[in-house]
Amino acid sequence: MRTDIAVIGAGPAGLLLAHLLAQDGIESIVVEARSKGYVAARIRAGALEQSCVELLRSAGLGAGIDARGEAHRGIYLQWPHERHHLDFVSLVGRGLWIYGQTQLQADLVAASEAGGRQVFYSASGTALHDLETSRPSVTFTDAEGVERRIEAAAIAGCDGSFGPSRAAMPAGRRETWERTYPYSWLGILADVAPSCDEPVYAWHPDGFAMHSMRSATVSRLYLQVPNGTDVAQWPDERIWETLATRLGHGQDGWQLTPGPITEKSVLPMRGFVQSPMRHGRLFLAGDAAHTVPPAGAKGLNLAIADVALLAPALARLVRRSDESLADAYSEVALRRVWRSEHFSWWMTCMLHISGDPFDAQLQLSQLRWVTSSPAGAAGLAENYAGLPLTTWES
Ligand code: FAD
Ligand code: PHB
Repeated sequence: MRTDIAVIGAGPAGLLLAHLLAQDGIESIVVEARSKGYVAARIRAGALEQSCVELLRSAGLGAGIDARGEAHRGIYLQWPHERHHLDFVSLVGRGLWIYGQTQLQADLVAASEAGGRQVFYSASGTALHDLETSRPSVTFTDAEGVERRIEAAAIAGCDGSFGPSRAAMPAGRRETWERTYPYSWLGILADVAPSCDEPVYAWHPDGFAMHSMRSATVSRLYLQVPNGTDVAQWPDERIWETLATRLGHGQDGWQLTPGPITEKSVLPMRGFVQSPMRHGRLFLAGDAAHTVPPAGAKGLNLAIADVALLAPALARLVRRSDESLADAYSEVALRRVWRSEHFSWWMTCMLHISGDPFDAQLQLSQLRWVTSSPAGAAGLAENYAGLPLTTWES
């Protein structure tokens, strides 16, 4: 098969890239290792930055967000006996949106099908070839067992942390940085109305907890747990009791309402960056190039930001054989990646219990500062909600 761009991975980065390219008249074929059902059912991120929502709207993908997304002004930061609201809209003129990655994925699949774009789900043995030529290719075995080869002008590696694209860059040409955090999140989805009006990030001596939401009837909550935790050790009653303690049930009359848990999983935390994000005609986007711990709500937003930059660069490469934007992609994208990597590390270190009492006092001091100093609050808000998307014109 021949196409303009071969895209590996049908997560948010891959499907959004194919969509933006199609809007620019550029053809692509997407290859995905998992089944369509598996990709659709994955429960992951939930918070979208205003700039990403605006991009999705301008790409004709805003209907779901406008119908079912929740606009929020900010977040709560709390520790025992204190809860403080940070109003991002007042602080930096932008709020955040709660719209599950599952819902966004469904919108992207619907747009892909409406546009008649080709996506090979349940592909196996995906391999990348001839990256240093102007005709690279991707080979794989499709769901029916047929061996396939896609030749393209370029390959977009949007295959997340475990896909083959990262490693397809020659070892001598790539540099990686990694931070493994000594704790994980136990995440649950529950069929119960959220007990809060905005996401709550809670510092507690027993460990971090978070209360987020998906809709008026569905809540998403997280608990800091040790690495290697088995969900079997966490029956529903233990989860709700621990959440009640850490989130301050009873504090100033606030109540946490428990409900039926529909999903439970443990999420290890890792910061990872690989540079450059381009080698020859292979371009990395999203988790394929970088991961962040989730406390900064950046993973999904970074994937969208990469693709917003990559789509016009690839369009120019295909249409005019002009590689100027493609040449600049990695350096420009990595500036935002490292800003997000730093913010995610900063939020993570401020909120998670390390076991060191000195750390705990530093964390409480930092929390008091960001919730009482307008400059401190604005710094957090700017990084969480206020970073504009980088465009080639800016
Ligand atoms: P992905 O969504 O990982 O998509 C990559 C795709 O490539 C997948 O569909 C995968 O199946 C496919 N693929 C892999 N290998 C191959 C192959 N060999 N051939 C073809 N296709 C392949 N971020 C937050 O901000 N907040 C959160 O709460 C949060 N929770 C998360 C929970 C979990 C369990 C995980 C894993 C991530 C979470 N994230 C969170 C991160 C966020 O979901 C990711 O940053 C986001 O999904 C990145 O999108 P992506 O398209 O780059 O990668
Ligand atoms: C979520 O709603 O799942 C969510 C929100 C903000 C985060 C992490 C997860 O920082």
